Amino acid sequence: MNQKYTYQEALGASEKIHWRVEDLIGGDKRLDFTKPSMPESLARVEQVSYLTPEERRTLNQIRGNAYLCIFGLVEEFILPFVLDHARLQLHSDDYRLRALLQFAGEEAKHIHLFKRFREDFESGFGTACAVIGPPEAIASAVLAHDPLAVALVILHIEWMTQRHYIDSVQEDRILDPQFKSLLKHHWMEEAQHTKLDTLMVEALAEGRSASEIDKAVEEYLEIGGLIDSGLTQQVEFDLDAFMRATGRELNEEQKAQFRETQLQANRWTYLGSGMTHEQFLATLGGLSTAARKRVEEVAPAFS
Ligand SMILES: [Fe+2]
Ligand SMILES: [Fe+2]
Repeated sequence: MNQKYTYQEALGASEKIHWRVEDLIGGDKRLDFTKPSMPESLARVEQVSYLTPEERRTLNQIRGNAYLCIFGLVEEFILPFVLDHARLQLHSDDYRLRALLQFAGEEAKHIHLFKRFREDFESGFGTACAVIGPPEAIASAVLAHDPLAVALVILHIEWMTQRHYIDSVQEDRILDPQFKSLLKHHWMEEAQHTKLDTLMVEALAEGRSASEIDKAVEEYLEIGGLIDSGLTQQVEFDLDAFMRATGRELNEEQKAQFRETQLQANRWTYLGSGMTHEQFLATLGGLSTAARKRVEEVAPAFS
């Protein structure tokens, strides 16, 4: 079991971080639509070869809005899951209970933060952009799975947010500072969540046989499949929003290139970058070498 992380340390690190939703958005803090929202390594708008620079920026911002929505959406199932996990042992360990409740409180704050940014986007972008959902329906479809599978999905998602910020956002000098601030503040709190997720995964795996663990990993991949169909739908929404926002009618060949490159960009953003995260794979490998191998075999399709 994990020797690296403790509830006490995660709680202590979290208590040192202080920011409010109101510090990040509202008043004169508005999104800047003259700048891109997302780093190119996630947006991959340059791969849509026929776009003008302005059109690339518009598509990038549409992807930024979808990012707000998809994170809002996944946090809708993370929050009840963490609360349920906390309830399993209310009286065993004061640090455990406080760290998990702090985690849940931060996710509630993040849901609020993403909503406030989406409101700002809607009022400033000028074109309505559809997003997948509703969050409650997706949350109940995900939460219907084995808790260990859901915990692995959450571990994947939270390591993914760390990677997005560290690999792609932190050093990016052209991003909208407002959007960058959201990703930075989210990253700061998610750093503790990755540790608590690791502890949740290990607690849920305890006492399970190898075949029970492998079955949970199959369910983790099933949830990945659910997310993947959501992403396929989101690309259609983004294509439609792009054509309405720019007034550009694409021919079938151009639409096909848009779908192909943007679906792969979405797959890397939400699936591949989590599945291949070294820390995620290390925790998975600690449960089962076969499970790690299985995920490593599937991951290239999402890169
Ligand atoms: Fe979050
Ligand atoms: Fe989180």
